[in-house]
Amino acid sequence: MSTPTPPSVYNRANPFKAQITANYSLTSEGSAKDTRHVVVNLGESGISYVPGDSLGVVPRNFPSVVDELLPHLGLAPETPVDQPTGPVALRDLLINQYVLNRVSKKFVKGLLEKLPEGEKKTQLAEIVGNEEAFDDYVFTRDYTDVLIEYPHQFTAQEFLPLANKIAPRLYSIASSPKAHPGEVHLTIAVVNYTTHGRAKYGLASGYLGHGQEPNKSEVPVYIQPTKHFHMPANEANIIMVGPGTGIAPFRAFLEHRAIEGATGQSWLFFGDQKKATDFLYENEFSAMLEKGTLTRLDTAFSRDQAEKIYVQNRMQENGAELWKWLKEGAYFYVCGDAKRMAKDVHQKLIDIAQEHGGLSPEAAKEYVEVTLAKTEKRYLKDVY
Ligand SMILES: Cc1cc2nc3c(=O)[nH]c(=O)nc-3n(C[C@H](O)[C@H](O)[C@H](O)COP(=O)(O)OP(=O)(O)OC[C@H]3O[C@@H](n4cnc5c(N)ncnc54)[C@H](O)[C@@H]3O)c2cc1C
Ligand SMILES: NC(=O)c1ccc[n+]([C@@H]2O[C@H](COP(=O)([O-])OP(=O)(O)OC[C@H]3O[C@@H](n4cnc5c(N)ncnc54)[C@H](OP(=O)(O)O)[C@@H]3O)[C@@H](O)[C@H]2O)c1
Repeated sequence: MSTPTPPSVYNRANPFKAQITANYSLTSEGSAKDTRHVVVNLGESGISYVPGDSLGVVPRNFPSVVDELLPHLGLAPETPVDQPTGPVALRDLLINQYVLNRVSKKFVKGLLEKLPEGEKKTQLAEIVGNEEAFDDYVFTRDYTDVLIEYPHQFTAQEFLPLANKIAPRLYSIASSPKAHPGEVHLTIAVVNYTTHGRAKYGLASGYLGHGQEPNKSEVPVYIQPTKHFHMPANEANIIMVGPGTGIAPFRAFLEHRAIEGATGQSWLFFGDQKKATDFLYENEFSAMLEKGTLTRLDTAFSRDQAEKIYVQNRMQENGAELWKWLKEGAYFYVCGDAKRMAKDVHQKLIDIAQEHGGLSPEAAKEYVEVTLAKTEKRYLKDVY
């Protein structure tokens, strides 16, 4: 197993201000997605990491989001707000410290209290009083959407306690420090959607994907060392399942193994919507196949045909071989969507243990969940 990352002076409470030096699209025109490769330069920070670690990023809002909101609040951008370090202009404070891409429930409740009696107040009270309607209401709206529907002015002292403070987001590191010294590479699926006639970005993915001027802006970052998602010894065989952005740590693993001259075999399962537009890092993986860094690559493009084909379908088709790898000591890694993909892949492993290992349903479950995952620690997940 790779050695854990040594502690750094930079952490969640004290992030390093890094620069983004490259940012390009991994998906091509016609894709339903906007997935980007982002290179973060660690400068003179001395920050180190190992494949399997994640990068913590403290995002900010687009200034345009704040500039759109302030007139609805009835507040001037330069309004001074007392902070422990001295007064700060409201515009800067909002850009750097408050989540503005989604309205908070406490703000909607605060607004309801302030609205004068009448039709609008009754209407909003009905929404707030119904849990499901309230969840739906805040899911699709930001502060500007709400203030367009229910105009009302706030002082800075009234507004700020009703908004949520920004929290960092984690991104799986997609690079080996041996291949890219002083850099961290990320694979970011930019969240974007239009609701109530206004386009919105996910806070951190929008900031990283489209809120930066390369080589200019400062991005607060820190390493979140992994507790369990370490690479195995170089002689070990590895099976990696990483659809979508789940591919990120496996690019790091493969780059690392190539530089270290790993003798173990590597088998990658990748999937995304369409081969023509969403085959992330296709050229890199083709080159790795040619060089032998990658022994096998099985892809599942879900929307290239009428029926969905997912990574677990490819596992099923190659079940006998996959079972052979596992019995011979291969490590099995999964990264990406926790809600659906990782659950289905988990079940597929159990099915394969039954079908190709001849195990009963109970024994197959025990083999995957206890022997592989806990006793031998050869089944590792980084899912979100
Ligand atoms: C360990 C770990 C590793 C990760 N690695 C990666 C990685 O390598 N690459 C990657 O891209 N992500 C990764 N993530 C996810 C990442 O941390 C963020 O959660 C993701 O980028 C979304 O954050 P955001 O700030 O852009 O969106 P937020 O602003 O936090 O939005 C949150 C979510 O709400 C949804 N949403 C909100 N309102 C609406 C609406 N009206 N309509 C539709 N959707 C809506 C968005 O789809 C989004 O998923 C990882 C997470 C963890 C925990
Ligand atoms: N919990 C989270 O915050 C979270 C986790 C993962 C992704 N996301 C969001 O989803 C968006 C895209 O993410 P992504 O690029 O990483 O890809 P993704 O949405 O995870 O999709 C990658 C591939 O997995 C397929 N897939 C869907 N359901 C599956 C299942 N049950 N089993 C196996 N494969 C399955 C998809 O197919 P189809 O789409 O054709 O069905 C697609 O081909 C982003 O906006 C991202 O932020 C959020």
